[in-house]
Amino acid sequence: MFRETWTGKMGFILACVGSAIGLGNIWLFSWRMGAYGGAAFLIPYLLFVFGIASVGLMEEWAFGRSQRKGAVGAFENVFNSRWPGSGKFGAVIGIIPVLAVFSIFIFYAIVIGWLLKYLFLAIGGAFSTMDISEYFGTFAGTTGTIGWHAAGVLGTMLIVLFGIQKGIEKANKIMMPVLFAILVVLLIRSVTLPGAGEGIAYMFVPEWSKLASIETWIMALGQAFFTLSLGGATMLVYGSYAREDTVILSSSMQTVLFNFLASILAAFAIIPAVFAFGLDPAAGPGLLFVTIPNVFAKMPGGHIFGVLFFLSVVFAGFSSSVSMLEPAVEGLMDKAGMRRCTAVIILSAVAFAVGLPLAVDMGRFGIWADIATIYVLPLGAVVAAVVFFWVYGADKARAEINKHAVHPMGKWFEAYAKYVFVAVALLVMILNIVFGGIG
Ligand code: PHE
Repeated sequence: MFRETWTGKMGFILACVGSAIGLGNIWLFSWRMGAYGGAAFLIPYLLFVFGIASVGLMEEWAFGRSQRKGAVGAFENVFNSRWPGSGKFGAVIGIIPVLAVFSIFIFYAIVIGWLLKYLFLAIGGAFSTMDISEYFGTFAGTTGTIGWHAAGVLGTMLIVLFGIQKGIEKANKIMMPVLFAILVVLLIRSVTLPGAGEGIAYMFVPEWSKLASIETWIMALGQAFFTLSLGGATMLVYGSYAREDTVILSSSMQTVLFNFLASILAAFAIIPAVFAFGLDPAAGPGLLFVTIPNVFAKMPGGHIFGVLFFLSVVFAGFSSSVSMLEPAVEGLMDKAGMRRCTAVIILSAVAFAVGLPLAVDMGRFGIWADIATIYVLPLGAVVAAVVFFWVYGADKARAEINKHAVHPMGKWFEAYAKYVFVAVALLVMILNIVFGGIG
């Protein structure tokens, strides 16, 4: 059957960078960097993204490309060829990662809805007149969000409807450059505000003592997996559309680098400005929906910068959300023989319907978001790694990863992947369960 591919390496990388850059970069990274040792936090973070999570990227891409299938079909093939007749079992296991990212999509679409609302508030210049601190509490979790939630699902649906090249790739080719350009503009605004120095110091002055705390390392590890979209389905299906001559090894380094760059730019765009106005950097929704609008309300030129900021976060959101919907769409197309358009519409309707009770109740929203990110997503990452490196075989995995590479990886990689990477992926899962969320 005909299967789309990206137009080339550039399209592939941009789509993967788009998936990686999301709320994890914007509402988690800057806060964590500040809270867990400033520049010192970069040591565990960089160690984990380059040394560990990049292997997860290569694994998922190579898994998808070697089978030319998404998780369900790829797991099925691998099981069948290893233990003839066990394909069905493999396919069932392959549903886990797809469900994991789909369950992330369900709550992510709600957050995109809030972002769209705030983009419109920013456009209308509302931040300077409304009571920002009160507003979010009266908006999130109410029926007033439903239309915005629908828009979050619809926007994602529209992009995925157009397929790989004309939908996901094209959208990312527009959104990613704009996102980076906006972040640079915001960074300049932020660091030139009087009083910004304190925020820069908060972010960067290394607090080496934090490295002695295990929590710092756990946070960096969870961040590394989540920010690179590791969960066994997204990067796997994106890899299944990669061309044979796309070099997996260098692509993974580039994706990690761009994703890191976006995190650092966002941190610079946010934290100094927060400090310049005497506010406290918060984690999670509080940062985006209370602290930041407050910053724009007070900042000279805040109207336009506020619009730019929320536009960039909306782009970061959609470029990730499409990558959460696509694995399930591919699954239905491949396994149920559905047309893309039918699969996209059905799954979008399901995501919206399941999301509705979460959108109108923040308690439920929190529980769902926790279960999806803490338990299900890390489980997806583990099963994909085990199936690819152990069932398919680390030797064949290495051959796929090394294709066309100028500096192919040696035999050592096989042991590293089978023992170190798989063990760390398991550790992420266990730590998440023990600590109630590190992603
Ligand atoms: N990497 C995305 C972020 O940082 C989240 C994500 C997770 C996207 C899993 C796809 C799959 O927000």
